[in-house]
Amino acid sequence: MKMNESCKAIACFWLMSFFILSVAEPTRPQLTTDFYRTSCPDLWTIVRTEVLNAMNEEIRIAASLLRLHFHDCFVNGCDGSILLDGDQDSEKFATPNLNSVRGFEVIDRIKTSLEHSCSGVVSCADILAIAARDSVFLSGGPFWYVQQGRRDGFVSNKTLANLAIPSPFDTLDTIISKFDNVGLNVKDVVTLSGAHTIGRARCTFFSNRLFNFSGTEEPDNTLEYEMLSELQNLCPQDGDGNTTTVLDQNSIDQFDNNYFKNLLNGKGLLSSDQILFSSDDETTSTTKQLVTSYSENERYFFMEFAYAMIKMGNINPLIGSEGEIRKNCRVINS
Ligand code: HEM
Ligand SMILES: *[C@@H]1O[C@H](CO)[C@@H](O)[C@H](O)[C@H]1NC(C)=O
Ligand SMILES: *[C@@H]1O[C@H](CO)[C@@H](O)[C@H](O)[C@H]1NC(C)=O
Ligand SMILES: *[C@@H]1O[C@H](CO)[C@@H](O)[C@H](O)[C@H]1NC(C)=O
Repeated sequence: MKMNESCKAIACFWLMSFFILSVAEPTRPQLTTDFYRTSCPDLWTIVRTEVLNAMNEEIRIAASLLRLHFHDCFVNGCDGSILLDGDQDSEKFATPNLNSVRGFEVIDRIKTSLEHSCSGVVSCADILAIAARDSVFLSGGPFWYVQQGRRDGFVSNKTLANLAIPSPFDTLDTIISKFDNVGLNVKDVVTLSGAHTIGRARCTFFSNRLFNFSGTEEPDNTLEYEMLSELQNLCPQDGDGNTTTVLDQNSIDQFDNNYFKNLLNGKGLLSSDQILFSSDDETTSTTKQLVTSYSENERYFFMEFAYAMIKMGNINPLIGSEGEIRKNCRVINS
């Protein structure tokens, strides 16, 4: 009896959240959730199948695909620019991306399959958005309806990528202003950082915390003691920085709210993760409350994450007759 009622309550909650998500007004109303309904009806099956195949080969690929969409959207909007191969001035060579972003082969496979099914119809930018959603959902995270209708850009700008994509060495205020530059707020910073519940990072991005943090000749004192000593062994000072470890040691490949629980325990891997909870400055008092709420309420995190992903996917898309639909995601059509 009691059980029944709580199940009803949960079902009702989910219905409400889907309702809220599906009527939420997109910031650019030109994107819609049924853009390819008649022009490419097999789109959903094709993307889902390829992401699933890739995850069966290597579970980490879900994290890599999610990150690709983020790095695409922060540079000239969600326009597939990160996928363009090019010379040393292309985004792939920017500091946050070089030897770091991955998953391009999976996007190629999805594109090839789509070109067989509905040639010249689906943009590479939309493929990134859908693959990111499927990666989250198939990792145990929330589902949301992806808005579509983005078109592919012509410009890949390494300089802008270096400026626009947040660095793990940035202060919280710098990270917030980089999000603000693309129309995202402080809440979005915390919510979207929850993506670090899956995936890996290399020593080079957090070894600054391990021995001589900010010139103090001491490790970062917000890093939990046992985790610190494990990381010191993993990333020795004379190492090459290429060793990889997990962003969420609690539940490595599962999309859940353990990322936020880790922060409460000083177990955030990157400095940019832990500062959301641990510093005493004014900005952190805002982010700290949200970290605590998400750590206590996974359902709330999932709902807000879905909403923030839709918002991120709406950063400055090319629409209508702007840009083009690339035939090959790596090159502009001739
Ligand atoms: C808040 C500012 C952020 C900073 C400073 C940051 C920084 C980083 C760094 C340094 C890595 C490790 C890269 C490597 O070792 O090669 C990483 C990985 C990752 N990031 Fe972020 N990130 C941020 C926000 C985000 C957002 C908004 C998302 C997605 C919504 C995201 C998704 C991921 C994922 C999934 C991984 C793991 C990728 C993999 O295993 O291939 N990050 N991030
Ligand atoms: C690349 O971005 C930088 C920084 O915003 C800008 O100054 C430059 O004009 C851009 N280059 C191109 C080719 O768009
Ligand atoms: C620690 O870092 C500071 C500032 O970067 C530097 O001056 C100092 O020599 C470093 N100490 C050691 C022991 O490497
Ligand atoms: C790290 O690995 C990349 C390739 O994955 C390589 O190009 C780079 O030289 C390596 N860095 C060091 C310091 O060995």
